[in-house]
Amino acid sequence: MATGLFRRASSRLQATTSMMRARLHATEAQAKQLEPKATAPRSTSSVLKAFSIYRWIPDNPSKPEMKIYEINLKECGPMVLDALIKIKNEIDPSLTFRRSCREGICGSCAMNIDGCNGLACLTKITDAGKPTSITPLPHMFVVKDLVVDMTNFYNQYKSIEPWLKRKSPPPVPGKEILQSKEDRKKLDGMYECILCACCSTSCPSYWWNPESYLGPAALLHAHRWIADSRDEYTKERLEAINDEFKLYRCHKILNCARACPKGLNPGKEIQSIKLLELFG
Ligand code: SF4
Ligand code: SF4
Ligand code: FES
Repeated sequence: MATGLFRRASSRLQATTSMMRARLHATEAQAKQLEPKATAPRSTSSVLKAFSIYRWIPDNPSKPEMKIYEINLKECGPMVLDALIKIKNEIDPSLTFRRSCREGICGSCAMNIDGCNGLACLTKITDAGKPTSITPLPHMFVVKDLVVDMTNFYNQYKSIEPWLKRKSPPPVPGKEILQSKEDRKKLDGMYECILCACCSTSCPSYWWNPESYLGPAALLHAHRWIADSRDEYTKERLEAINDEFKLYRCHKILNCARACPKGLNPGKEIQSIKLLELFG
């Protein structure tokens, strides 16, 4: 009898085990059947977009390469900077670029997007099927990936002495020096510059003479201080840049105005300086 009981228990155990196996297999099979259904809505609602991004890492001194990253635009903000942040956060944390304000104020996210210099935070992602290409600002030394060396650019800006210079004390000691509305208006189109370098790095003359030609950004700032009614070093400022290379490498190609994300026209300011050099 004991043997009969054991046999029955054993056969029940086998039956249960095979049922469990069957269930397990059924679950796997069902899961397999379900898998495509689960992913299907995601893929139909996805808008995939490829970005071809310049990569170069100084620690690994091999040739630079363009690396393709694909993201779902449905899960991304509308600007190129949103795409870069998404790629860095979710796909490749080693991707390096500068950014700070995300609203066109700091100038740090300047780069070349589909062949045009611009700010990544102000450039909309295009829905076009072809990949968007992103490279560093042209003709600049690359520090890593999309980060360029701005030392020469900042030194040129420093060289024009971008601060108020006076020979006489302020009319009212300890108070700001006032300006008429008309004089203040003369600074429009210059004071808005955020020093992003989009203009200088799109200027062919600057490409060929980056050390001797001051470039559109520094010259725009030179004119900003020359035109300031409160500054008393106008003559000295004009003399300091009256140079074949510093000023006269501008050939009015106007790439600078086209590239400026703030809508400024450095080429026009350079022409104003040239007129002042000639006629005072
Ligand atoms: S206008 Fe002058 S500064 Fe501007 S891109 Fe042309 S050459 Fe360069
Ligand atoms: S002039 Fe425009 S492009 Fe040039 S540095 Fe200033 S903001 Fe940038
Ligand atoms: S992040 Fe500041 S200008 Fe783009």
